[in-house]
Amino acid sequence: MIVLALETSCDETAAAVVDVKARKILSNVLFSQIEPHKVYGGVVPELSSRAHLERLPVIVSQALTEANLPSTQLDAISATTGPGLTTALLMGSTFAKTMAVSLNKPFLATNHIEGHALSPHLTDPTLEFPYLLLLVSGGHSQIVMVNNIGNYELLGTSVDDAAGECFDKIGRLLGMSHPCGPKIETLAKEGTPTVLLPFPLNDGSLNFSFSGLKTAARNALATTSHPPDLAASLQAKIAEIFVKKCRIALEHTHAPTLVAAGGVAANTAIRTALAEMCVHKGVRFSAPPPSLCTDNAAMIAYAAGLRHLNKLDTGNLSTPVRPRWPLTKPNSLM
Ligand code: KG4
Ligand code: ZN
Repeated sequence: MIVLALETSCDETAAAVVDVKARKILSNVLFSQIEPHKVYGGVVPELSSRAHLERLPVIVSQALTEANLPSTQLDAISATTGPGLTTALLMGSTFAKTMAVSLNKPFLATNHIEGHALSPHLTDPTLEFPYLLLLVSGGHSQIVMVNNIGNYELLGTSVDDAAGECFDKIGRLLGMSHPCGPKIETLAKEGTPTVLLPFPLNDGSLNFSFSGLKTAARNALATTSHPPDLAASLQAKIAEIFVKKCRIALEHTHAPTLVAAGGVAANTAIRTALAEMCVHKGVRFSAPPPSLCTDNAAMIAYAAGLRHLNKLDTGNLSTPVRPRWPLTKPNSLM
């Protein structure tokens, strides 16, 4: 089954063609809209949707050219229909629906978080259900039990900000441009984690809180003479929080595997810390390569195809975009 998918939930315009059964990414094209948002220090929804509209025709034709496939050979067209910025989601989903109508192919509506949740299978063919998922991105910090495709149990979530937001806000104060996570990771290499930062909700709960950590890091910035030390400390504290919460969740669930996905899981120090904890606990660890952790359309094509092959609801041309769409309700598309 060959799926072309579009991803426009935030500030990346992405298109990919995936052979779902073969787990083969035939093309994976990404355009990061860093420029239009630079002066504002964050993503401006209206600018984002305009940039998506401008880029979509170019990247879709690039994705088809790189896949070396005529559009007639596609089995379905998918797009992220939530969660995300409404006007941005509308660009990708309207474009994909139009393509589906003109090519007379089914349109598959895909949940962005489900894309992240299933993305590890693309590069880890031996990964089996169930697994414990640490899903950490710019919008989400969750611990989820992935029982099967379309069957997810939320065990813990952030009560305020997401981990990626914490990296992004502190990075901005350090003069970095969005997204700041990768830049903090680079800066952290020149520092040592000597700045004391709190561990919020260190009470055995599986929920996260990053708002207080963000404030503490901001306050520490005023007295830190060497910013790389703050970057290293923030990264180390976030890794420590993930390791501890995942260890507790593994003990509760007896899950045989821990999977990390989402943009923040691209961070090497965080991946290494989680992998070490898993070795210690005798649990398997899996994470997609960094390029598939951050937003991309290959994960959308793959999740769409898997749901279709497993006869789960994948919506239709009337499926609306949804700014909020929890992973625990992947089957409620309206
Ligand atoms: O999954 P993603 O690309 O988009 C969302 O669905 O939100 O995640 C983006 C987030 C941003 O906050 C970005 O700063 C963070 O992931 N991120 C990182 C790294 N790469 C991306 N955070 C820490 N270290 C990284 N290497
Ligand atoms: Zn994402």
